[in-house]
Amino acid sequence: MEENKKVIFSGIQPSGNLTIGNYLGALKNWVKLQDEYDCYFCVVDLHAITVRQEPKDLRRRTLEVLAIYLAAGIDPEKNTIFIQSHVPTHSEASWLLTCCATYVGELGRMTQYKDKSKKYGDSIGAGLLNYPVLMAADILLYNADLVPVGKDQTQHIELTRDIAQRFNNLYSPTFKLPEGYIPKLGAKIMDLQEPTKKMSKSSDNPNSYILIMDPPEVIRKKINRCVTDSIGVVKYTDDQPGIKNLITILNAITGMSIEDIEKKYEGQGYAQFKNDVAEAIVNELEPIQKKVKEFTEDKEYLQSIYKKGAEKAYYVSNKMLRKMQKKIGFIPVSK
Ligand code: TYM
Repeated sequence: MEENKKVIFSGIQPSGNLTIGNYLGALKNWVKLQDEYDCYFCVVDLHAITVRQEPKDLRRRTLEVLAIYLAAGIDPEKNTIFIQSHVPTHSEASWLLTCCATYVGELGRMTQYKDKSKKYGDSIGAGLLNYPVLMAADILLYNADLVPVGKDQTQHIELTRDIAQRFNNLYSPTFKLPEGYIPKLGAKIMDLQEPTKKMSKSSDNPNSYILIMDPPEVIRKKINRCVTDSIGVVKYTDDQPGIKNLITILNAITGMSIEDIEKKYEGQGYAQFKNDVAEAIVNELEPIQKKVKEFTEDKEYLQSIYKKGAEKAYYVSNKMLRKMQKKIGFIPVSK
């Protein structure tokens, strides 16, 4: 019975083209979890506008992210798939949590905010500071038990728990405290050119990431050119961050254990290994890319999914929003 299932909430920003980091850190795990949980998967376009977006790119990417969810295997019959801006409860809950349960100090301590404020300096938008409160609203509106994300989001989930706890203490028990669900491997796929940095869709150097939609020849070229080292041994160690990253990718895609990978390439240098990593990525992504193209051409089908998703999400989240409003002291329009 759906009512007894634990709830999952997660989302991806349509702020750039999705990378294999997004795929291995988040999406691939969502697919595994969808039978066991009552899942809400959101395209978080309100988060994307915390940095400037070209309207036509935002429109295209929002639908593409939705198509990628479907193509990766998220079943719209089993899950609620929706676009964040279609469900206005998120913005409203975010405001309530901003005012009633969040401190500026804790927002300023978020690593992602600190990194971005370095990049944008004084002209940083206030949305980047408030961003984690919107994320907390996303999660808390559905009373999510579990939030499957990559490692970079753990701090935001801890803050979500703090905000929830604070609201519960100030008013009365309202929210469950959600847990992050971080995959054992693949939780932090690294930049191909600077393997001590996280792979990011917002990087300026296209050789530093592999996009879910990169054509096979581009994937092969990027893996071939990725930064490794001169040691020449395929070993999972912090001393060889480039090789460690490729082992992680191969493991996350094929399920082959790290020991088996190390053994298989013993005494062979890097050429065959890199070649096999590239082929594993191509094999994983090619069928997804084909489906993404089919889905993006069928705008009506996509619309039917996000419309149905928004209705369900609104219905569920509005009940929680009303609870919050009532506890805060707002007068309901009707009983
Ligand atoms: P976003 O859009 O930056 O990333 C989406 C998901 O991809 C994961 N990820 C990675 N995993 C492994 N290696 C990488 N290099 C890598 N890069 C990204 C992220 O951890 C994330 O799981 N704030 C979120 C979106 C969001 C959200 C939410 C998530 C908004 N509301 C509610 C969960 C619940 C973000 O910016 O993700």
